[in-house]
Amino acid sequence: MNRSSLSFLLLALVASVASAIDIDFTSESSINDGLALVAKGLMDYYNGNNTGETPGMFSHPYYWWEAGAAWNSMLDYWYYTGDDQYNDLLKSSLLFQVGDNWDYMPQNQTTTEGNDDQGFWGVTVMAAAEKNFSNPLEHEPQWLYLAQAVFNTMAARWDNQHCGGGLRWQIFTWNNGYNYKNTVSNGCLFNIGARLARYTGNATYAEWAERVWDWVTSQGFITTDKDVYQVFDGGFIEDNCTEIVNLEWTYNSGLYMAGAAVMYNHTNDTKWLGRAERIWKRSKVFFMDNTNIMYEAACQPSLQCNTDQRCFNAIFSRFLGLTCLMAPPLNAEIQEYLAATSVGILQSCTGGSDGHTCGLNWGHDGWDGYYGLGEQMNALEALQNRLVWTRPPPLTADTGASSVGNGSAGGGSVADIVTNTIAIETKDRAGAGIITAIIIVMFLVSAWWMIV
Ligand SMILES: *[C@@H]1O[C@H](CO)[C@@H](O)[C@H](O)[C@H]1NC(C)=O
Ligand SMILES: *[C@@H]1O[C@H](CO)[C@@H](O)[C@H](O)[C@H]1NC(C)=O
Ligand SMILES: *[C@@H]1O[C@H](CO)[C@@H](O)[C@H](O)[C@H]1NC(C)=O
Ligand SMILES: *[C@@H]1O[C@H](CO)[C@@H](O)[C@H](O)[C@H]1NC(C)=O
Ligand SMILES: *[C@@H]1O[C@H](CO)[C@@H](O)[C@H](O)[C@H]1NC(C)=O
Ligand SMILES: *[C@@H]1O[C@H](CO)[C@@H](O)[C@H](O)[C@H]1NC(C)=O
Ligand SMILES: *[C@@H]1O[C@H](CO)[C@@H](O)[C@H](O)[C@H]1NC(C)=O
Ligand SMILES: *[C@@H]1O[C@H](CO)[C@@H](O)[C@H](O)[C@H]1NC(C)=O
Repeated sequence: MNRSSLSFLLLALVASVASAIDIDFTSESSINDGLALVAKGLMDYYNGNNTGETPGMFSHPYYWWEAGAAWNSMLDYWYYTGDDQYNDLLKSSLLFQVGDNWDYMPQNQTTTEGNDDQGFWGVTVMAAAEKNFSNPLEHEPQWLYLAQAVFNTMAARWDNQHCGGGLRWQIFTWNNGYNYKNTVSNGCLFNIGARLARYTGNATYAEWAERVWDWVTSQGFITTDKDVYQVFDGGFIEDNCTEIVNLEWTYNSGLYMAGAAVMYNHTNDTKWLGRAERIWKRSKVFFMDNTNIMYEAACQPSLQCNTDQRCFNAIFSRFLGLTCLMAPPLNAEIQEYLAATSVGILQSCTGGSDGHTCGLNWGHDGWDGYYGLGEQMNALEALQNRLVWTRPPPLTADTGASSVGNGSAGGGSVADIVTNTIAIETKDRAGAGIITAIIIVMFLVSAWWMIV
């Protein structure tokens, strides 16, 4: 080997080392430098600020709901690192998508929007209120107001006519899945309700959190017969929700675990601590044997995760962090698992042309070739939720949060709504049976992949 090829090799080596993400978790500057690269990678999928594009939306193929979830990742990124370079984009995005009624039902989405889609934007603005994120101008909708509007409009859809209660997946009769009651839609209502209860001190929200919990557990969407609580996917109204689709997704466990932890923090009632703890115990199946690296167990081993599912670990990680803060008895163990996970992440975020693109499977030796918005969100949230104790815990109206709301946001009080039943379109739609069959087959196929 001659001298010039040797120096070329050395240069290449130095270049690749320099572009990888190497975080020393005892050093604030090292953490900030590393997270900045992951966040930059996430924002590479955002072009909504370009001429002709739509503010708030991430590039194709990422759906509107995932954009809502991604902005929560960026909100938390700012909160934990202090890097505010994306805050203007974040704020304008959250405000651009509120819709005419200020409830995250924008016209462009209403043909396809489900309760869970709306719910994840609600979760994000709830976090903005709790983190005292820069308030919108007076004539604009405020973070707390938006969270209340999402909560109120969702709660108003509570359906007592089938399965004894619960939200359907879809809002509109014409959408596939209108006949499905899913755990995630109800989980968003539960999670936001618990947090509004804690933030505002208004008992109505806590009652709703109780109501949702009681219903999902009575249906067996969350099992409570053992020491560990499994969080399943949902059930169909045709059979009164008796056949449970028993897929377990990380984000569902996260929504309920954190919601229960918030209820514990708010009420000081150990029954809620027990609930959070039992979901956490089961959640250990979402970490690989031996290494304790997080993964999406229902689809990842079979390489079947779709675009949506490839960001579930982000939402799960965020809710693990919230659980640590709200239920400190669970903190030490959860943080151990996040620390083990971060080892896998750092060796995974070594791909792509920038040398630090994050992959999907963090147990893979090096980058696994996957890339996308979800992969960046997952990595960012799993890493930054190791830092939850470096900043003040979520604020409330009593502890310095400044966001202003209105209990009637979204079109009225829901205090008594559960005693009324919402008008339900009973017109039988042609093809509804076929659609149901397709959905069932879809679920069976993914269930089969999970087992294999
Ligand atoms: C959009 O925001 C990104 C930051 O993520 C920035 O790099 C880019 O220049 C912005 N584009 C426009 C047109 O402002
Ligand atoms: C709705 O879609 C149109 C056409 O793409 C776009 O111009 C507009 O900004 C969008 N509005 C929202 C709130 O997304
Ligand atoms: C459906 O389930 C609910 C609650 O689980 C129950 O109260 C109701 O009686 C059931 N309806 C039918 C028709 O079985
Ligand atoms: C919360 O419960 C614990 C244990 O029961 C008790 O020691 C503590 O004083 C309670 N705190 C409040 C604020 O009620
Ligand atoms: C509620 O959360 C705060 C902030 O993390 C924590 O200091 C407090 O101990 C928690 N309360 C309970 C009852 O665990
Ligand atoms: C929250 O933000 C408001 C408005 O900027 C500010 O006055 C207040 O001090 C902040 N609260 C905390 C706890 O930082
Ligand atoms: C809250 O909203 C209701 C209904 O829109 C309105 O009548 C009321 O004045 C609002 N309250 C405040 C304090 O703004
Ligand atoms: C509590 O929240 C409910 C539901 O949004 C609302 O109707 C009620 O007015 C609120 N109560 C107070 C005291 O703010």
